[in-house]
Amino acid sequence: MKLLDIYSKFSDDIHYIENKLQESVRSEDAQLNDAALHLLKAGGKRLRPVFVLLAGRFGKYDVELLSHVAVSLELIHMATLVHDDVIDDAAMRRGQLTVKEKWDERIAMYTGDYILAKALTVVTKLDRPDIHRILSHAVVQMVIGEMEQLRLFYNVEQSVRDYLLRIRRKTALLIAVSCQLGALAADAPKIVTQRLYSFGYNVGMAFQIQDDLLDLTGTAEQLGKPPGSDIRQGNVTLPVLYAIQDERISDTVRRALESLRGASADDSLVDEALTLIRGSAGIREAERLAAKYIDKALAALEDVPDIPEKEDLAVLARFITNRTY
Ligand code: FPP
Ligand code: MG
Repeated sequence: MKLLDIYSKFSDDIHYIENKLQESVRSEDAQLNDAALHLLKAGGKRLRPVFVLLAGRFGKYDVELLSHVAVSLELIHMATLVHDDVIDDAAMRRGQLTVKEKWDERIAMYTGDYILAKALTVVTKLDRPDIHRILSHAVVQMVIGEMEQLRLFYNVEQSVRDYLLRIRRKTALLIAVSCQLGALAADAPKIVTQRLYSFGYNVGMAFQIQDDLLDLTGTAEQLGKPPGSDIRQGNVTLPVLYAIQDERISDTVRRALESLRGASADDSLVDEALTLIRGSAGIREAERLAAKYIDKALAALEDVPDIPEKEDLAVLARFITNRTY
């Protein structure tokens, strides 16, 4: 079973969710409508909805019921991206202009608020306070993760632990919750729900590490945005933290970050720092840690029931660290 096979196996249900996503952001306000649809139409892997559907197979699978969770999670993800692009001053996402670039920052803030509010509208179609609580907690943690990231921008003194704590909040938790809520909405057994949460958490950690690696090693075409964006935005990621353990690299990276923090960035110094990081052991070390998280994710699946979707989850987990987009 390959990644595309999973999407084609669930293609009717993914289609159903895609339509619901579009319907859910429709607004009488033309500008809100256009801005929300802009990001939705730019595509995306729809990983969170796929995790919801797969996890739902471990209980009583009901696509209508699961779609409320899947749509809400994808909308939350989208809302955070619209806001994140304002914070990161990013011009491109998924090969398209970001909302803040196509319109402006004020429109982007309201569009993010609007999409988040729609996510709440959708999930409250389920009369499940337990699900509402888990979802709200995840969003609160994401905001805390982003605040931590903001405080640690340009900071090369931060530890690997700081980085891991931050990505746990900003990324891993929402993926963990996607698996957990899919199982919960389908009333899967408690132990299975717990294992799927742990699976999602570890996949989420690997996913963000891979995202941060790709930002350094990918091409603009693969990424849909310029490579090296993280460091330019001041975001010091895992491969960089590992790379600067080498003294020959740390001085250049420090100076590059200093220049980026100041009024005028020294582009050739930033390029030099990026070249050093790309050729450093930091890349391999970050890859190794991502692979460890995938091993943990696969281990979490060991004692869940042997239905075909267990293998689908494993395929998705392996794709996370092999992906180039
Ligand atoms: C992308 O990270 C951003 C996130 C994973 C989380 C963003 C969260 C918020 C903005 C806070 C919560 C907001 C709302 C609306 C509830 P990245 O910048 O590393 O990745 P990128 O390369 O995709 O931009
Ligand atoms: Mg960003």
